[in-house]
Amino acid sequence: MVTVSTANTDNGEQNAQPDRTLIQIDDFNAWYGDFQALHGLSLQIPRYKVTAFIGPSGCGKSTLLKWINRMNDIIPGAHAKGELKICGEAETPPGRDTNILDPALDVVRLRRKIGIVFQKPNPFPKSIYDNVAFGPRLHMKTTKAELDELVEWSLRKAAVWEEVKDRLHGPALGLSGGQQQRLCIARAIAVGPEVLLMDEPCSALDPASTLAIEDLIFELRSQYTIVIVTHNMQQASRCSDKTAFFFEGRLIESGDTERIFTKPEQKQTDDYVRGKFG
Ligand SMILES: Nc1ncnc2c1ncn2[C@@H]1O[C@H](COP(=O)(O)OP(=O)(O)O)[C@@H](O)[C@H]1O
Ligand SMILES: [Mg+2]
Repeated sequence: MVTVSTANTDNGEQNAQPDRTLIQIDDFNAWYGDFQALHGLSLQIPRYKVTAFIGPSGCGKSTLLKWINRMNDIIPGAHAKGELKICGEAETPPGRDTNILDPALDVVRLRRKIGIVFQKPNPFPKSIYDNVAFGPRLHMKTTKAELDELVEWSLRKAAVWEEVKDRLHGPALGLSGGQQQRLCIARAIAVGPEVLLMDEPCSALDPASTLAIEDLIFELRSQYTIVIVTHNMQQASRCSDKTAFFFEGRLIESGDTERIFTKPEQKQTDDYVRGKFG
């Protein structure tokens, strides 16, 4: 049996605020060809919180994550139906909702807003500096000094600056796995996203690097909306505010992480969080 401590009761001021939905998912269905991977999902992802997607392998967590930034566009036969939108806010012009499924949507712009970090750290075979500068060089007009500043800012935010500041022009692939993953987070935040999607970001890392990434996630949520897919129950309970439990392509239950882990409403959720299957 897995015992889980819900350490995130210290939610900070921001997280005491009522939820404001950033991503609205309603009756969402997704297929790979004829195979339906997601069935009628409805879920709200709140701003400035960490939402964990949990559930056994193959239940559709990555599929949903990839639809949120339209990564499935490149998979032949992948299609979806239902509502998947980014909610606009009155104070952030234009304040309109963005339909993520709109075929005419500017996907490059969407991905600037919604960054993704994968299971296996995937730095480019370039220098540490060039990895972080890659997106800004593509999307922004910056002077050399501004770019230097942005690279430093991103590396500091990703809690890896102290470890790399003396070797910025050295190869990114020379870093340890944990450092590479923090570099990938720095690369993702350098273009100023609102959302960070993380698909099992620690599963290839050692325990110390895992804790460093979890601390970072906890830290970053005051400025970003974070969705993390994890197999690790302790990780979900340590670093998320909200948890959504998936099983065989369906959302079984979602809510405050503490409640999901201590008083789940569904038996399947209870069995899963207690480690009875998975
Ligand atoms: N590119 C693909 N083509 C066909 N089926 C896929 C593809 N990717 C995932 N699937 C299937 O969709 C289901 C959900 O997969 P996935 O979203 O990767 O699950 P999870 O991330 O929860 O492990 C699984 O049955 C998987 O085999
Ligand atoms: Mg997956």
